[in-house]
Amino acid sequence: MSKKYKIIFTISECNGFAKTGGLADVGMSLPLALKEHGHDVRIVIPFYRGVSRNYNTMTAVHSLGVPMGDHEAWCSVRYLIEEGVPVYFIEHNGFFDRDRIYDDGNYEYGDNALRFGFLSRAVLQLCKVLHFMPDIIHCNDWQTAMTPYYLKEYERDNYFLSKTASVLTIHNAAFQGKFWGGFAGPLAIAHKDMVSDCFEDFGMINFLKGGIAYADKINAVSPGYAEELTTYVGSHGLHDSFMRRQQDFSGILNGCDYHIWDPEIDHLIPAQFSLDDLSGKKLCKKMLQKSFNLPQLSHTPVIGIVSRLTQQKGFDYTLSAMRDILINNDVQVVILGAGESWIQDALHGLAWEFPEKCGVTIRYSEEVAHYIEAGSDMFLMPSLFEPCGLNQMYSLKYGTLPIVRAVGGLKNTVEHYNILDGSGTGFVFQLPTSGDVVQCVNFALETYHKRPTHFQKMIHQAMQQHFDWRSSTIKYEELYESAIKKRQSGSR
Ligand code: ADP
Ligand code: GLC
Repeated sequence: MSKKYKIIFTISECNGFAKTGGLADVGMSLPLALKEHGHDVRIVIPFYRGVSRNYNTMTAVHSLGVPMGDHEAWCSVRYLIEEGVPVYFIEHNGFFDRDRIYDDGNYEYGDNALRFGFLSRAVLQLCKVLHFMPDIIHCNDWQTAMTPYYLKEYERDNYFLSKTASVLTIHNAAFQGKFWGGFAGPLAIAHKDMVSDCFEDFGMINFLKGGIAYADKINAVSPGYAEELTTYVGSHGLHDSFMRRQQDFSGILNGCDYHIWDPEIDHLIPAQFSLDDLSGKKLCKKMLQKSFNLPQLSHTPVIGIVSRLTQQKGFDYTLSAMRDILINNDVQVVILGAGESWIQDALHGLAWEFPEKCGVTIRYSEEVAHYIEAGSDMFLMPSLFEPCGLNQMYSLKYGTLPIVRAVGGLKNTVEHYNILDGSGTGFVFQLPTSGDVVQCVNFALETYHKRPTHFQKMIHQAMQQHFDWRSSTIKYEELYESAIKKRQSGSR
């Protein structure tokens, strides 16, 4: 029987409580999968306004002191149990009782360094008052990347934490948590650690860089992205940091939560369907077209997009490609997303120019996301970079063939169509250019119209793909074991 660990899983988003993207999906499904494997896992996230308004929580700790430079800041800790997993919420109203998680809608909050530095340290204080001795503290992205530093530099001799190892999972290294160097004092970053192989980044503090230097083991959310992070172009400027830790750095593909994303049991869609009976998918398509006020034409292929509207997702080159595709083809495009205003405006422009062919919804909606996955024929993810990507996994399960760029996790999960025998699960292109997007989408549309037997075969192949959390969890267990060994060896 494999070893059972005590794990603190700390993260800034967790599905059901706070979500801006796929980080939240993993924030809930990975701890649940670890719990299913018999581990004692506990989630720690901030007590955001959305949580305080919508959930009944209990008090776990009335008053928790957290060192912040030369003084202590105080918070309380609330908790609830979600599917057998305790979720602890760090309640500091000054820091977390706000409308949004990271920004005010226009600008990032000016005290994000303090907010997430505080969270990173509060996690350790919480273990001590709960008398919980974790084998592993599993941190995620820059928001919790300071924890490995505090653990090693400040808790070396603490009875509860001296044996604890840390793992840092990188979901998106483009976000690094870079802040003014003057925060080093309140964040208790020692002078010796404000150097370029640790926190220092052109005079600023870089949370992620420090986390990479200090965590016992580091992983990216797909093997493809892990590989890219060790190249100059793909590392978001962190090439040297990743190379220094190459021995301790790996890639583990995220799983897909099939309790939520499975067309056979999905109650957010108008009709369920399965590999053996795809009739429900036809109804889903009809209802999708209706909900986006598009003509309900069963033969016209529908391409869906659900995305944060940011540069990462490739809109720079995809917007002009979409115009080209809409002008020249019998096709409909439905888009759900929210984010940068220039992309929102451009998408509104497309919907205005092609009212019969393009529907756009600018907001966050779980329901519409499920509708699009179920009712579209194809799903476009032309990302500039994509650490893992979950939407293409959802699309595969719903028989909605992904059209993706060969980056990060997309290249690990979608197999390009082979025109000779109809093998493959989607359409894959290489370059981040409008020309490549157009060419690949045209090829997909041509396959839809002219090689329907291949298209149907691919739908079947796609729906049989399974990226379950079970196999990823086994890889995390191996990572934990090696992190513990590393910790025991005593090296930084
Ligand atoms: P990322 O985390 O980079 O945004 P992923 O593909 O990993 O990309 O995950 C995105 C997640 O966020 C998916 O669960 C997707 O359905 C969801 N999502 C993104 N934008 C929206 C939106 N506007 N409405 C509903 N869900 C959204
Ligand atoms: C990030 C990445 C995305 C990944 C998600 C979950 O938001 O952009 O590719 O799927 O994290 O790990």
